[in-house]
Amino acid sequence: MSDYQRISEQLDDVADAREEGRRKMDWAAQHMPILEHVRDEFTADRPFEGERIGMAMHVEAKTAMLVETLAEGGAEVAITGCNPLSTHDDVSAALDSHENITSYAKRGVDDEGYYAAIEAVIGHEPTITVDDGMDLVAAIHEDYPELIETIIGGAEETTTGVHRLRSMDDDGALEYPVFAVNDTPMKRLFDNVHGTGESSLASIAMTTNLSWAGKNVVVAGYGYCGKGVAKKAAGQNANVIVTEVEPRRALEAHMEGYEVMPMAEAAEVGDVFLTTTGNRDVIVDEHFEKMQDGVLLANAGHFDIEIDLEALAERSVDHYEARDGVDAYEMADGRRLNVIAQGRLVNLAAPVSLGHPVEVMDQSFGVQAACVRELVDNGDQYDPGVHDVPDELDTEIAEIKLEAEGVEFDSLTETQREYMDSWDQGT
Ligand code: NAI
Repeated sequence: MSDYQRISEQLDDVADAREEGRRKMDWAAQHMPILEHVRDEFTADRPFEGERIGMAMHVEAKTAMLVETLAEGGAEVAITGCNPLSTHDDVSAALDSHENITSYAKRGVDDEGYYAAIEAVIGHEPTITVDDGMDLVAAIHEDYPELIETIIGGAEETTTGVHRLRSMDDDGALEYPVFAVNDTPMKRLFDNVHGTGESSLASIAMTTNLSWAGKNVVVAGYGYCGKGVAKKAAGQNANVIVTEVEPRRALEAHMEGYEVMPMAEAAEVGDVFLTTTGNRDVIVDEHFEKMQDGVLLANAGHFDIEIDLEALAERSVDHYEARDGVDAYEMADGRRLNVIAQGRLVNLAAPVSLGHPVEVMDQSFGVQAACVRELVDNGDQYDPGVHDVPDELDTEIAEIKLEAEGVEFDSLTETQREYMDSWDQGT
């Protein structure tokens, strides 16, 4: 096993950290009725007895509730972060104090530490992997293929991870089944849209102490995340400009009433730029050249490659921290371009960021928990490759949430069901 140390061995004041982490988790737990329901079921049934679950996720209070839910179901869980800046060390320490959980996650690790922690998790020889960005799956296939034989399957949280997995699957290189949790309605329509929209805007506003009202906000990418960001920014009286490369999505944005234009034009008029494409090099040198003094640049896509910070650094004559979480790059002509959270996921990586709202993550993690249970119950029915989450699992999570919210809804009558299933009943 890698000799990378668990978080408890890395912190000076572990007891205080654990207490604070537990406090954050207790708060989250009060607003996660789905995980509470699932946890009660797992605690009674212990479905994961004998399983080892390896996880690479944003280690903060909401994720911690998922981790504990799996551990209470009998699993041995080893976890690390999926981004060097999104870990809350206190939560990591609180998790690490659970007898069935080992946490290696530490905020601010360099690349070497980040991948050493991934290896440490793999050292526990997981039988199930839970990823946010596919780093565990990639490392296992590249460096520890001998473990694949005993891995039942995995679950992937985010769009970028699912993209990478599908590419791997297309190449015939993915050797165990992985559920695309991201693609379920219960995840994507809430987490990506509302979660990213609300938490990205909140993080930027709190980091900068600036208003949205009257600003030209350029949203790059009008996918699930971009739609949420655009809608919430418009709701705070910003003038939203969308950039896209996919014609139907560009048209959708246009029909929603947003201005749509190429980034080369948007660069000249934007006050705030937020990338949500999951792609690379979306804002590059030619755009920096045209931007106004004082613009804000942030990214909500999974990796920190959407804004070309190397080009920005090269172009700048000075670079300094303007505020906590804001790096100002000063150009030769005096313009200052401000990058928030070093171009990493702004809703998780800025110093004040808390990630998605708790209620939203309750849904996403409810689906994750259901997928892990499905792998243990029926893993042998899934071939290697990317799999859609069975619709009944997603529906089950929605029903738990509706019941917890006290929302009642209709169900089909027998006649309606027959009609919906028929093809020969017309006018
Ligand atoms: P999506 O695939 O629905 O949307 C991405 C959009 O960006 C697409 O419409 C695509 O055509 C467009 N695009 C691609 N290259 C572009 C370019 N050069 N210029 C303009 N538009 C471009 O993906 P989704 O679900 O919106 O996720 C986007 C990213 O956000 C992914 O990296 C995902 O992993 C990440 N994500 C981040 C979250 C967070 O908490 N910050 C939460 C959920 C997802």
